[in-house]
Amino acid sequence: MASSQKALLLERIGGSFVEGTRPIPNPGAGELLVKIKAFALNPIDWKLQDIAFPFMEGAKFPAVLGSDIAGDVEEVGEDVHGWNKGERILFQGYLPSNDYTAFQQYTLVPAELVTRIPENTSYEQASTIPVAFMAATCGLLASPPLGAGLVDPNTLEPIGDFSCSSALVLGGTTSVGQYVIQLLKYIGFGQIIAYASGHQSSFLKSLGATDIIDRKKTALDQLPNVVSALSKLPIKLAYDAVGTPETQQVAAECIPEGETVVSSLPAKVINLENSSKKLFSPISISHRPETRELAKVVFGRLGEWVSQGIIKPSPVETLSPGFEAVVEGLDRLRNNQVSGVKLVGRPT
Ligand SMILES: NC(=O)c1ccc[n+]([C@@H]2O[C@H](COP(=O)([O-])OP(=O)(O)OC[C@H]3O[C@@H](n4cnc5c(N)ncnc54)[C@H](OP(=O)(O)O)[C@@H]3O)[C@@H](O)[C@H]2O)c1
Repeated sequence: MASSQKALLLERIGGSFVEGTRPIPNPGAGELLVKIKAFALNPIDWKLQDIAFPFMEGAKFPAVLGSDIAGDVEEVGEDVHGWNKGERILFQGYLPSNDYTAFQQYTLVPAELVTRIPENTSYEQASTIPVAFMAATCGLLASPPLGAGLVDPNTLEPIGDFSCSSALVLGGTTSVGQYVIQLLKYIGFGQIIAYASGHQSSFLKSLGATDIIDRKKTALDQLPNVVSALSKLPIKLAYDAVGTPETQQVAAECIPEGETVVSSLPAKVINLENSSKKLFSPISISHRPETRELAKVVFGRLGEWVSQGIIKPSPVETLSPGFEAVVEGLDRLRNNQVSGVKLVGRPT
């Protein structure tokens, strides 16, 4: 096997992406070396080109970005049981460690954080799942203070009966929003209201949304009144899957005192000091110590959930092979030119 590989390298924060080569890493104990077949692009990948996020402290530049990965097991490290060369797997990469990220031909991953890709799912479809699914999972399933804790973290069984409760998903067609809707359905919410572009209504209903508020007809500041009129059941939770300060604020305005808002913006920017509302806004990386135990349990079940259709991958737009298409795709994400599909690249 070759010792070096092609990769897309970010020179520095504020710098350009360039194609280059870097060594193929060796799997340590408990790890798999993976031949990458497909990777999905995320907003964080273009944001990282511009912004020095605290979690990138210690990153080595030139850096390899990308966190949504599907591929084949190429080599099995010591102390790994149950995995063999050639098996199809999906998993979340780990920024800021270049040996564990997506925009390259080979990467490493701890074997406990992967799941098998079912036969009914392509590499491209599988690659759309990990990052957005983890954001939905951490916000809804992780126990407080990380997330809303709606399931038992060991069995993933809902901790109560939610059939007489409503939930709101602000940004239903975002990748995160799609998995939030599906997990709310799995948890058993009686009403799931999505705020999204109206033309995506039937898609979002196929995922489990019961009611759609068309964001082209209802401005963000009107949302609390419209949600209140539409809720047939007491509203228990609002998930802000857009992840801006404005959407976090409006999500909080849509729920009554005592209830829960979850935000995909990994910072609590609204002031709830004089309120009994709860706000969770986790950074959702399966490798980190605070999320790892839940990630092990969830990735242990994910392949089965995908195979059974409990979790459906996002619709895919497959880019041309190679890294040039990735740079163009990141620009499209930056310029808000992508709606309802996940851009998926391939290393070669
Ligand atoms: N905390 C974490 O660890 C974590 C992890 C992953 C993502 N995130 C964050 O979560 C957010 C969503 O990420 P993503 O990858 O899911 O995004 P995405 O799929 O790229 O989202 C694109 C969609 O956003 C929708 N949208 C934009 N503005 C909206 C608004 N004001 N109201 C409703 N929908 C709106 C558009 O929907 P239309 O089709 O209606 O135009 C478009 O389809 C980002 O801010 C991302 O940084 C956080």
